[in-house]
Amino acid sequence: MTPGDALVCLCRGVSEGVLVEAIRRGHRDVASLREATGANTGCGDCLEDLEDLLAQEPAQ
Ligand code: FES
Repeated sequence: MTPGDALVCLCRGVSEGVLVEAIRRGHRDVASLREATGANTGCGDCLEDLEDLLAQEPAQ
């Protein structure tokens, strides 16, 4: 298992790699990431992790 395989959103089974890819494709806020990946559409617990990933990825 590579680091990108780690699940960020357990409810929807969305991995860090999938989220980083979506952020790089231009989904640069939580609402847009939700729409693109389905992450954070369950219990909501992963919200902070999504925000952290957004903060980590430099703007293009
Ligand atoms: S862990 Fe992401 S919505 Fe529940």
